[in-house]
Amino acid sequence: LRHPERLVWQRHDVKRSLPERMTNSHKGSHGKGLMVGGSDLMPGSIAMSAKAALRSGAGLLTVATAKEVIPSVSSYVQEATFLAMSETAGKITGHIKDDLQGFDAAAVGMGLGRHPEAQELIEELLEQIEAPLLIDADGLFHLKELFDKVAQRPYPTILTPHPGEFARLLGKPIKTIMQSPFAYCRSFACKHRVYLVLKGPATIITSPEGKQRVDLTGNAGLAKGGTGDVLSGILLAMVLQGGSILDGISNGCFIHGTTAELLTDEQHAMRDLLATDVVEGLSQTFRTFS
Ligand code: APR
Ligand code: MG
Repeated sequence: LRHPERLVWQRHDVKRSLPERMTNSHKGSHGKGLMVGGSDLMPGSIAMSAKAALRSGAGLLTVATAKEVIPSVSSYVQEATFLAMSETAGKITGHIKDDLQGFDAAAVGMGLGRHPEAQELIEELLEQIEAPLLIDADGLFHLKELFDKVAQRPYPTILTPHPGEFARLLGKPIKTIMQSPFAYCRSFACKHRVYLVLKGPATIITSPEGKQRVDLTGNAGLAKGGTGDVLSGILLAMVLQGGSILDGISNGCFIHGTTAELLTDEQHAMRDLLATDVVEGLSQTFRTFS
């Protein structure tokens, strides 16, 4: 991989573009977010993602998740409000479809599960959410069947696959994609009109117009389950707080990786670093930008 310097998103770029917290702001000024995901066997993903969104400055956050996981999620994220879905996440749609309006951005997929009904849910969100929509993890699993709906959305759509998830979306082996990742990212993002975040040690960020940036922050401490969910929460918060979507997602990737670097410089080793440590470490990174 070669990274032309101009592509690499750096600290001074974040400093310049991270929206300020105005003295006279109120919670509504910082966006009302919706997060959809979680299931009985994966309650942690959405919990960490939600906490990361709030720690990254989201004004208000509603979590739509399976009814029986609400107690565990709410004990970790006391600031969130909840929409209850039935235990089969596929029946979610019927329970929340009247409640999908009024959000400034939404994120779906973390810990959602891959059952066929999840596809109906994603379809519903693609049609009903009148705001930026981020799709991650299990939300990407059925997305191939919904590409036409994605391209038709009049609002920004953000996809955050790791290489395995991107390979599935493209229908090509990871090895082939990694031989020319920038080209595959650009053609996919332009074709489907999405913001694409291809995650990894070098994260490639592409706009629907084909503009590309690379985030080189982070380290192998992040190679552990849950860190992608934390990134999704940070990205939702960045999008909620306004400014350009491309800058917001670039800043979110930088903040996620930089937090891991700070934590492994001081309190942690790469081996023991947990996704929840990254959530709690976000304040250290944000303090360097205030
Ligand atoms: N160096 C720098 N950053 C790294 C490294 C590394 N060596 N390894 C991982 N990361 C970062 C990635 O850039 C990304 O931001 O950690 C994050 C990992 O995200 P994911 O691959 O989505 O990992 P995870 O949190 O485990 O995902 C959870 O998503 O893919 C599904 O099946 C998976 O359900 C699971 C869920
Ligand atoms: Mg993931």
